[in-house]
Amino acid sequence: MITVFGSINLDLVVVLPRLPAPGETVVGPDHQLFAGGKGANQALAAARAGARVRMVGAVGRDVHAAAALVNLERAGVDLSDVRHLDGTTGIAMIGVDEAGENLIMCASGVNARVSADWLEGRLARGDLLVLQRELSPEPIAEAVARARLCGTRVLLNAAPSGDAALARLVEGVDVIVANASEAAELALALGAGETPVADLHCAALSGPDRLAVVTLGARGLVAQMGGKRWHVAAPEVEVVDTTGAGDAFVGALAAALDRGADVERALAEGTAAGALACTATGAQSSSPDTASIAALAERITVTLVTAG
Ligand code: RIB
Repeated sequence: MITVFGSINLDLVVVLPRLPAPGETVVGPDHQLFAGGKGANQALAAARAGARVRMVGAVGRDVHAAAALVNLERAGVDLSDVRHLDGTTGIAMIGVDEAGENLIMCASGVNARVSADWLEGRLARGDLLVLQRELSPEPIAEAVARARLCGTRVLLNAAPSGDAALARLVEGVDVIVANASEAAELALALGAGETPVADLHCAALSGPDRLAVVTLGARGLVAQMGGKRWHVAAPEVEVVDTTGAGDAFVGALAAALDRGADVERALAEGTAAGALACTATGAQSSSPDTASIAALAERITVTLVTAG
């Protein structure tokens, strides 16, 4: 069983000819509304990848709440621990350019009031707790501590930033997933020194029993645990919108690890899901199902290299 403790948003998306620079206005056609939030996106991705998933988080008592939850409901995610609080549902304003790159501004709303107490009685030995960083820092740290006490494994996604507060949590988790810039920030905070090399960042985040994954977008990823390091090349897909690709990766990786797949297979399935998630607009609309993940994962090569 996977428990996702994280953010739930409604995404307001505008496709633009290019992303605006500070102080600039760029005009696009009609906006689109999508369910989003890194927590909710990862919960949906894990459920679509075949896992049993519970979401713990909050929406407001406002007009956006139902739309933010509709995909999770349809995918059979257990929403009994999603609280409806006075206040506003989290909102993300997203611009997407013609190359599929995005720029995201978030208003946390009630995500800022999610409490780790809500995890009481929800974490079991052998389960997997999935965390990202769109909630306040304190409940995330407390969630890691609670999981440790319960014997629940923890997958922590550094997004949206790998600051020093996060570095303090890395030791307590079983899997850490960061993109290139988050991994560089984290490795620096962990005392690894400044280097532009993703393999070295990954090595600094990994441990004898801790899997570190540094995602590199179209260049794939590097992962390390103990003395083993893996490189995975991303498959080529037609990129429409990269929003939520990292979340699809995390959700599918979590689903594979939760069902007991080995690291190589879990990395291949995560990579497949992340790539497929780039092929449509919206963070959740493109989240792939088990069959499409499995089909693409077959074509992905995971290369074991010696860790330096
Ligand atoms: O990772 C993508 C997500 O980031 C979007 O769905 C948006 O809600 C922001 O949280």
